[in-house]
Amino acid sequence: MLASSDTALLLRQLPKAELHLHLEGMLLPERVTSLAQKYSVRLDADELRCRYDLRGFSQFLELYKWATSFLREPEDYAQLARDSVIALNQQNVIYAEITLSVGVMFLRKQNVAANFAAIREAFLQNAATGAGPHVQFIFDAVRQFGAAPALEVARSAADLSQEGVVAFGLGGDELSVPLCDFRDAFLHAHHHGLHLVCHAGETGGPDQIKDAIDLLGAQRIGHGIAAIRSSALMNTLAERKIPLEICPTSNLRTSALNIQLNSAHCKLADHPLPRLFRHGIPITLSTDDPAMFHTTLLEEYSAALQMGLSLDELRIIARSSFEHAFLPDPARQSFLARLAQSSDSQASVRTVGRAIHNE
Ligand code: ADE
Ligand code: ZN
Repeated sequence: MLASSDTALLLRQLPKAELHLHLEGMLLPERVTSLAQKYSVRLDADELRCRYDLRGFSQFLELYKWATSFLREPEDYAQLARDSVIALNQQNVIYAEITLSVGVMFLRKQNVAANFAAIREAFLQNAATGAGPHVQFIFDAVRQFGAAPALEVARSAADLSQEGVVAFGLGGDELSVPLCDFRDAFLHAHHHGLHLVCHAGETGGPDQIKDAIDLLGAQRIGHGIAAIRSSALMNTLAERKIPLEICPTSNLRTSALNIQLNSAHCKLADHPLPRLFRHGIPITLSTDDPAMFHTTLLEEYSAALQMGLSLDELRIIARSSFEHAFLPDPARQSFLARLAQSSDSQASVRTVGRAIHNE
């Protein structure tokens, strides 16, 4: 999805925050290939292409399981973190909350603290050069693995809360285990000062979003596009200012859009983002798993333009991503100042451009 070249440049220059981004979802096919070589696993090029050619949510979960099976030691995660820094810099992402599938690490009996130390070090090294984005981390449990493994993830998030882990979250298959089963895990995280997020209303209905808020205390909702099916819920989200982390291309490729709109052939232009935004619900824009959905944050912004949002509305969304980040207030204000500065300089370039044009 391409914007005009002027608009594309404006979007590229806009300093951005990304709040819903899975590190493992940044595993490009090329990186999977090099990891497979490292572990002497023969990979067929057709198989790789076929796995990355997504046609629905269960195929996506299958790809996620398969691709992450090549992340076997801390250095693999560090390499992925270095790849991610490059990708984030290309999008002018200056702040990111990176979700780690810690539930998967535990399932594979990996040393979570060692993986995390390697990931954190890779991001910190780049930040130290002044080139990399500032990052914080969210530890994610996997819903279909159940309540006990989720509590283990919440415990490790709490243990590492002084090292840049700011939130605990839940992803995976919404239609598997009910949210009430995860109360202990969310309570544990909350009692240890962590923020709370939850994937809900992606493939499940509006009731999932309500449960995530009312039963688990989720402060931001991952996806939440099912809200479009309940005007009462849309009112609640707007009144209580609970943000939805919207990931349009992800919703298209996992067929979540088809599910929520009850149609077999949805396009990005059908996405409910404009309606949710204009209802007054705080919206943040993200890629979710950009390598797996073949997208970038710039493409998500330009897709929002194609859905009918104006550039000014996109600026509000860009701002919203900083406003709803889990940052201490001075840091938030400093990011917001950078955003305002960039918008001011873009506006003055446009004014000069118009004056030259009219001479
Ligand atoms: N884990 C990574 N991406 C996810 C998504 N879109 N939905 C649920 N769990 C996920
Ligand atoms: Zn996600």
